[in-house]
Amino acid sequence: MNMRRGMVIGSAFIALMGLMLSSGVSASDQSRAKEVLQQTCIQCHRLEGKPDSRFNLKAPDLIWAGSKYRRPWLIGWLTGKEAPLYAKGYRWDLTEVSSKHPVVTDSDANAIADYFAEHNKDPRVTVGAFDVSKVTKYEADFGAMAFKAHACLGCHTINEDGKIIGGPQSTALQASGQRYDKDWLYRFGLNPQDFVPHSGEFLADATDPQLRAVIGYLMSQGVNDFKYYEPWTSAEFDKASVSRGKTLYKEYCSQCHGATGKGDGPAASGLDPKPAIHANIPFEKLPMEYLYNVINHGGPAIGKSPNMPYWNLTIGQQGVADVIAYLKATFKGVPNGAAASTTPAAATSVMPTKAAAIAVPAGVTAISSGGGQSDACVQPRKTVKAPDSFLAMTNPLSASAEVLQAGKTLFQKSAKPAACAMCHGEKGDGKGMMGAALAPPPRNFTCNAMMKDIPDGQLFWIIKKGSPGTGMMSFSGLSDDKVWQLIHYIRSLAR
Ligand code: HEC
Ligand code: HEC
Ligand code: HEC
Ligand code: HEC
Repeated sequence: MNMRRGMVIGSAFIALMGLMLSSGVSASDQSRAKEVLQQTCIQCHRLEGKPDSRFNLKAPDLIWAGSKYRRPWLIGWLTGKEAPLYAKGYRWDLTEVSSKHPVVTDSDANAIADYFAEHNKDPRVTVGAFDVSKVTKYEADFGAMAFKAHACLGCHTINEDGKIIGGPQSTALQASGQRYDKDWLYRFGLNPQDFVPHSGEFLADATDPQLRAVIGYLMSQGVNDFKYYEPWTSAEFDKASVSRGKTLYKEYCSQCHGATGKGDGPAASGLDPKPAIHANIPFEKLPMEYLYNVINHGGPAIGKSPNMPYWNLTIGQQGVADVIAYLKATFKGVPNGAAASTTPAAATSVMPTKAAAIAVPAGVTAISSGGGQSDACVQPRKTVKAPDSFLAMTNPLSASAEVLQAGKTLFQKSAKPAACAMCHGEKGDGKGMMGAALAPPPRNFTCNAMMKDIPDGQLFWIIKKGSPGTGMMSFSGLSDDKVWQLIHYIRSLAR
C-alpha cells in the first residue's frame, strides 16, 4: 500500500520536472503563475476550499498562502533553497521519507509569490495583530519555556543551542522566524483547527500573553540578528520621575523592603528568603535588563522568590520606570563597593535573620570549617548537600580552550537570569557588585582550599537548583552542557 501511494506522488513529481525542462525563459506575470499553479502545483496542493484533514491531503494547503509566508522564504522554498519541513514526510502514514520538492525558476517563483499575494490572502488574518518589534528577550525566553510546557516540542522541532530537538511529526519550526508572516502565525495560534482540523493538531490552553510569548519566540527562531525590544529605552523611562518613584516605593515596596531599604518592612519577618536589602545594592551598576525584569515580571523572572511580586499590572510601565529611577538615585551600595565579609558574624549583620550559622549537613560543615592550612578564604556554606546520585557525577566535557571560553562567556556575560560575575565577581572571588547585599556571601571560586573539596556534582546541582534562601538563584534554563562548561571555567579560577 505504501508503495502504491508513493508512486502517485512520484509520478506527479516527474510530470513537473518535464514541465520545467520545457518551460524555458518564463514570463513573470500572473498568467504565467496561474499556468504553473494549475498545471503542476494543484496536483498536490489545494488553492481553495475549506480546511481539511492532513490525512485527506497530499500536501499542505496553499489556500492562505498569500498571508502565511515571508516572501524571501517562499522564493527560497520554490527555488529549492530551503530545508524540508516534514522530516518524516507530509503523509508519514503513507511514505516514510520526505521526497524532494519540485523546483521552479527565480522568475516563476516571484510570479507565484505575486499571485498568492493577490489571490490567496486570508481574510481572517488581521494585519498588525502581532508587533514583532515589541518582543523582549524575557518574553522570547518565556515563550521558549511555554513552548515546552504546552507540549509543542512533542510534535515540532526547534533549534536549541545549535541542536535540533523535538518530535519531528509535524512541520519543522527551527526556521519559523524566516518562514512565517507574524500575523498569520498569531491567527493560527488562536485556533489551529481553523486551518488544520483532524490532522493530529493540538489546541493549547494558553492565555493571550502566553500565546504572544510563544509567537515572539517562534519569530526569533532561525533569525540570527533578531532585534529584541528593550522596554527601558521607551518614552516612559525618558520621563521617569524620582519623586513619583519615591511615593511608589512607600506605597508598594516598603511593606517588605522597609522604608529606608534595609529589608525590614512589616512583612519581612515572615519571609524566607528575606526581601533584598536595597540599601546595600549599587543600583546604578545593575544591568537594566535584570532590574526591569525583577520589578516588572517578579522574583521568578530572575530565578528568585515568588514573594517578590510582578509589578507590571499594579503600577504600569511608568510606575516601573519611576521606581527604578528612585532606586538608582537613592541606593548606592556599601561604601567602596566592599563585598560581604566571609565571616558569619559580618554576614549576619548584613541580613540579621539569614544567619549563615543555619545548620548544614555534616559533610558540608566539615568543608567550611577548613583545615589547618592558610585558608582564610574558606566561607561558611549555607548550600545544602546534593543527593548522592549527583555527587557521583563527573564532568563529561574535557576542559578544552573552547569549553573554557564558552564557560567564561556564560559566567561573565550571558547566563540568564543573571551573569554569575554580577555576584561572584569578574575574578570569581565572590566580590561582584551584588556581593555586599547578600548573606551568605557568593561563593569565592578562587579559594582552592575550599573548592578542592566540593565535588563537580555538588556544583552542578546547586547551579541547576539554586540554594533556596540565599542569593544563589536557580539556573534551571541552562542545558546540562552549559552547566558543565561553567564548572570547568569555575575550576580554572581556583588559586
Ligand atoms: C508532488 C507533489 C507536489 C507538487 C507538484 C508541489 N508540491 Fe509543494 N509541497 C509538497 C509537499 C509534500 C510539501 C511538504 C514539504 C515537506 O515535506 O517538507 C510541500 C510544501 C510546499 C510549501 C510549504 C507549505 C507549508 O508547509 O507551509 C509551499 C509554499 C509549496 N509546497 C508550494 C508549491 C508550489 C507553488 C508548487 C508548484 C510550483 C508546488 N508546491 C508543487 C508537494 C508538492
Ligand atoms: C500532538 C502533536 C502536536 C502538538 C502537541 C502541537 N502541534 Fe502544532 N501541529 C500539529 C499538526 C499535526 C499540525 C498540522 C500541520 C501539519 O502537520 O500538517 C500542526 C500545525 C502547527 C503549525 C502550522 C504549521 C504550518 O506551517 O502550517 C504551527 C505554527 C504549530 N503547529 C505550532 C504549534 C505550537 C506553538 C504548539 C504548542 C502550543 C503546537 N504546535 C503543538 C501537531 C502538534
Ligand atoms: C511582598 C513582599 C515584597 C514587596 C511588596 C516587594 N518586594 Fe522586592 N523582593 C521581595 C523579596 C522576598 C525579594 C528577594 C527574593 C529572593 O531573594 O529570592 C525581593 C527582591 C527584590 C529585588 C531584587 C534584588 C536582588 O537581589 O537582585 C528588587 C530590585 C526588588 N525586590 C524591588 C522591589 C520594588 C521596586 C518593589 C516595589 C515596587 C518591591 N520590590 C516590592 C519581596 C517584596
Ligand atoms: C544574584 C547573585 C548570584 C548570582 C547571579 C549567581 N550566584 Fe552562585 N551563589 C550566590 C550565593 C549568595 C551563593 C552562596 C550560597 C550558599 O552559601 O548557600 C552562591 C553559591 C554558588 C555555588 C556554590 C555551591 C556550593 O555548594 O558551594 C556555585 C557553584 C555557584 N554559586 C555557581 C554560580 C554560577 C555558575 C552562576 C551563574 C550561572 C551563579 N552562581 C550566579 C549568588 C549568586
